[in-house]
Formats: sequence, structure tokens, C-alpha cells
Amino acid sequence: EGEDVLEERAPVITIMGHVDHGKTRLLDAIRQSNVIEGEHGGITQHIGAYQIVHPHEGRDRAMTFIDTPGHEAFTAMRARGAEVTDVAVLVVAADDGVMPQTVEALNHAQAAGVPIIVAVNKVDKEGANPDKVMGQLTEYGLVPEEYGGDTMFVKVSALQKQGIDELLDAVLLTSDVLELKANPDKSARGVAIEANLDKGRGSVVTVLVQSGTLCVGDTMVVGTAHGRVRAMFNENGENLDVALPSRPVQVLGMSSVPRAGDGFLITEDERTARQIADKRETAERNAMLAKRRKRITLEDFD
Ligand code: GTP
Ligand code: NA
Ligand code: MG
Repeated sequence: EGEDVLEERAPVITIMGHVDHGKTRLLDAIRQSNVIEGEHGGITQHIGAYQIVHPHEGRDRAMTFIDTPGHEAFTAMRARGAEVTDVAVLVVAADDGVMPQTVEALNHAQAAGVPIIVAVNKVDKEGANPDKVMGQLTEYGLVPEEYGGDTMFVKVSALQKQGIDELLDAVLLTSDVLELKANPDKSARGVAIEANLDKGRGSVVTVLVQSGTLCVGDTMVVGTAHGRVRAMFNENGENLDVALPSRPVQVLGMSSVPRAGDGFLITEDERTARQIADKRETAERNAMLAKRRKRITLEDFD
């Protein structure tokens, strides 16, 4: 008791940027997968979370990536996304340059104090102008090392899989400075990244474990959802018995569907989990009713 043994954990990296600048294609290149082909209209509708292993300075390093949708409707989710993020990769298409959601994304990351690495993407395209991107971002405080600043810019082509290793090395150089650690020897805590109701499987919640170890059989409260963890899966659909810090994992067994950004914790039994969930639900309902009952007073009116 009281002894908190911290161990190295994988960095959590959020990929941000304007619509269609290549976030999902970049993550596909990093993972050597093809998520983009399965998307409706090529638009990311949900937040994907994946862990990869990258050889770096003679060691295999785990890295967790979160792909945030670029669509404006998801701005709120992205704002929450920054809270779990250790390092942000800002994707800017070299043919398009800095766009409104590029600025929005960098504002979120800067406000959260998260270091930013710029991936200047689509350098393979005709009309690509990486220097212009560098100049544009300088105005937002992201000054390239080449210009005497301290922001790493990496030129990549997600399509042609160029510059990917350099980008991963840059992320690890940055995250290593942060000395990211967590204690795996306690019950897990973390955040729901996304959740949905699946016809066959019921409530499916992707959580990011931030500390401790999540185990199948644990009783969990996540937002106002609760239940016993019936099964866990990694991003490839493989069964996991345990999930260590920085691992994103799909959890089955919750009573309902929580919201992205809801925190989770582990309780001693199912009854406690239900009671905490009930308490939260009552508090939320009361807060909502109080808002509805609120009438304009003379002080409000000026
Ligand atoms: P949202 O999720 O909708 O915000 O888009 P996104 O940022 O995830 O972009 P996505 O990965 O869907 O890529 C958008 C388009 O750009 C797709 O047609 C990609 O194939 C293309 N693309 C992405 N990276 C590159 C690249 O390096 N070069 C070229 N030529 N095309 C690319
Ligand atoms: Na897209
Ligand atoms: Mg996408």
C-alpha cells in the first residue's frame, strides 16, 4: 500500500488535421492496414484507436494512435480527444496548406499543452508545397527546426508510404522527453474513446487504459454505464485477457452505451458499480432539471 511503482508506458498519439488531408491514410500506412476502404464516402465517422510496435534505437516500442474524424460535427469529440493525448500529429496536405480545421486542431493541442509534430502529407502530389506549409504554420507558433524553431516537421506521403519511419522516430523522440510512466499494478482507470450499440454484441465500448491493468471479469463503471467486462478485443479483433496502460481495447458487457470522453473505473463488485452508475445518473438528471427550471431573474436581465 502506498507504493506506486511506475513503469514506462507507450505514448498516446492523436492524429489531427483538416478534412481529407490524409489522417486515416497515414494511419493505414503506419499500421500497414486499409481502414480507409471501409469508410463511407472516405469520411471517418468514428474515432479509431490502434497500437503498433515500431523498432527505435534498437528496441521495439509500442505506440498508441487515435484517429479523429476531420468533420466539423466532431469538433467536440476532438476537443475531448486532446485530453488523452501525449503527442499530437498535425497532418497538413502539402497541396492544400493550412485550412480552418488545421488551425482548430492546433489550437486544441496547444491549449492542452500537447507537443505537436507536423506531418506535411501528400508530398507526392503535383503542386505540393511543403515550404509554404512551414511558412504558414510559423504564424501559429509552430516554427520548424530549419527556421530556428523547435517544431519537428516531417515530409510524408501516406499514399506512397514515404517518411513514415522518420515520422514515428520523431514522435518517439518527442514522447521520450515526457518520460511517460504509469503503474500497471493496480486496478485500471481510463477513458471511453468511442461506444456504440452492436446488434449481436450489445454495448461495445472502446476504452483507453491510462493506468493500472484492466482484466476480463473486472466490474466497471464508465460514465453512467456499468457491468462486468465479459470480453476484450484489440484493434485486430483478437481476444485479450488483460490490457496494460496506454492500450486501447474494446470492452463488452456494459449495461448501456457511454459517451466518448467518459472516464472509467473498476469497482469491488457489480453491486457497487451499479450504485455508482445510479448515483451519477441521478446527479446528471438533477443537473438537467435544474437547468430547465431556471428562469430569468432580475440580475440576469441587464
Ligand atoms: P477525414 O477523416 O474525412 O477528415 O479525412 P482524412 O484526413 O482521414 O483523409 P483520408 O485519409 O481519408 O484521405 C483523403 C484522400 O486523400 C484520400 O483519397 C487519400 O487516398 C488521399 N491521400 C491521403 N494521403 C495521400 C498522399 O500522401 N498522397 C496522395 N496523393 N493522396 C493522399
Ligand atoms: Na477523408
Ligand atoms: Mg479519416
